[in-house]
Amino acid sequence: MSKVDGAEVAKHDSKKSCWIVLDSSVYDVTSFLMKHPGGAAILLKQAGTDATREFAKYHPLSYVNDLPPGSLLGAIDANTLGNLRSPKEETLTPLKTSDTDKEIPHVTLCVTCPDFEAAAKAVLPRKSYIYASGSANTGLSIKANLDDWGRINFRPRVMRNVGDIDTRRSIFGHSSPYPFYISPMGTLGAIHPGAEPEMVRGAVRKGAHMVVSTASTRGAQEIMQSYVEEQKRLNNASPTRLFYQYYMPVDRKKAIQLMHLVKEAGYKGLWITVDAPVLGKRTADRYLQAEEALAVGIEEEQPSEWESGHENTFAPAMGGRVASGQLSPHTTWEDLAWIRKEWDGPIVLKGIQCAEDAKLAYDYGLDGILLSNHGGRQIHTAPSALMTLCEIRTYCPEIIGKMEIFVDGGLRDGSDVLKALCLGATAVGVGRPFLYALAAYGSQGVERCVDVLAEELSTGMSLLGVTSLDQLKPEMVNASRLLNEIWRPESLRSRL
Ligand SMILES: Cc1cc2nc3c(=O)[nH]c(=O)nc-3n(C[C@H](O)[C@H](O)[C@H](O)COP(=O)(O)O)c2cc1C
Repeated sequence: MSKVDGAEVAKHDSKKSCWIVLDSSVYDVTSFLMKHPGGAAILLKQAGTDATREFAKYHPLSYVNDLPPGSLLGAIDANTLGNLRSPKEETLTPLKTSDTDKEIPHVTLCVTCPDFEAAAKAVLPRKSYIYASGSANTGLSIKANLDDWGRINFRPRVMRNVGDIDTRRSIFGHSSPYPFYISPMGTLGAIHPGAEPEMVRGAVRKGAHMVVSTASTRGAQEIMQSYVEEQKRLNNASPTRLFYQYYMPVDRKKAIQLMHLVKEAGYKGLWITVDAPVLGKRTADRYLQAEEALAVGIEEEQPSEWESGHENTFAPAMGGRVASGQLSPHTTWEDLAWIRKEWDGPIVLKGIQCAEDAKLAYDYGLDGILLSNHGGRQIHTAPSALMTLCEIRTYCPEIIGKMEIFVDGGLRDGSDVLKALCLGATAVGVGRPFLYALAAYGSQGVERCVDVLAEELSTGMSLLGVTSLDQLKPEMVNASRLLNEIWRPESLRSRL
């Protein structure tokens, strides 16, 4: 491969010609600028520089192979690295003014989930915090997620001999000490340098199950390797199992390849995300994108057609990877037939938001459904998972107990898990609290977050008057406020 001088790379630092160094190779990304899902500014900030470190925060390095053909110009001449440009200084105000005043409370001072968010906000670069905390449109979906947990009250029983509490629950036969798991979240490299493996280590040490995102910074095999190594360190004593969240690639061949890869790697179930055929409007991200574009002299970015199908600006974003589709908007219920042929383990549909689709999933023989609105990041004014669970109780209660039903979104207190379980959920997914804990404290924070939720859960069980999760029943909660809001057209019951 021909060698390229750093001084030559440095000259190509504009919209007209943009070269970057990635993993010791030089790429011309000019034609890709307007196709980058996060906007051209992200690449332009790196123009003429060695972008490897920045790139690796968000994508597996192997993604460079997916850049459009002809992008690779040669290897960087190692003796001329000093001639490269330095990356443009961050022009956006960080949340804190300098790296040195990242004073956060000691991890033991985090005694509730919101405490992790406060710590994460202090340490995360502004852009990463926006990514994590962001939601769709004016934020009503995430608001409903957070609020609806408080709209259900317990109906506690007393004098029930609750000295000995058992919080165990199984997910597809894999026992866990807890009825909650870590939700899949993409691009954890933007949150902590240890990225997904750091989250996995915390999960394994506590025995919590975790669902790994397709949009992870690190590859599925590398993440599994970190799991295997941590298990080895613990003499394989941790009950933690990893499941895989699957965005359906458009290209059938690639979709099958990915399924086989994660199966062989040892993931125990496929959680197909179905609430994101296109990307929701991530408002805070859009402001940031516009701000970044202006900072590099672009007045208005043309959102590219490639933008859809990405978790957000941080999601895997390069060439063929994008072109092949990270999430296919063309997926339909009929696709389940071939998916089932290729994947012989449990399949969950992640993102069910009404009783009709829950019933359809049951009729199609799915092993599980996850009632979720993607943490309020997709459709505007989505129903909370608890609301959808109440709909299922109203219109198709017969599916409860016949398939595994998960819920996620807005859960910030361990005792709230009990509400979902009383209403028929198998387990609950928790997203941002774990992400914030990772950001501020690494795997130690993840462990702490598990402890916080587990303690609240166990205390909640004692105060509710139960000693094991199988004792939970619908009458232990007053969900009338949500149930009264269920839409009840005559036609719906007969259709189901
Ligand atoms: C930063 C972030 C990234 C996410 N990435 C993904 C993803 O890659 N795939 C996916 O199916 N869901 C993703 N989600 C949604 C979560 O899996 C989950 O549904 C949601 O976070 C639950 O809400 P909570 O954060 O309020 O607990 C993401 C959520 C956040 C906050």
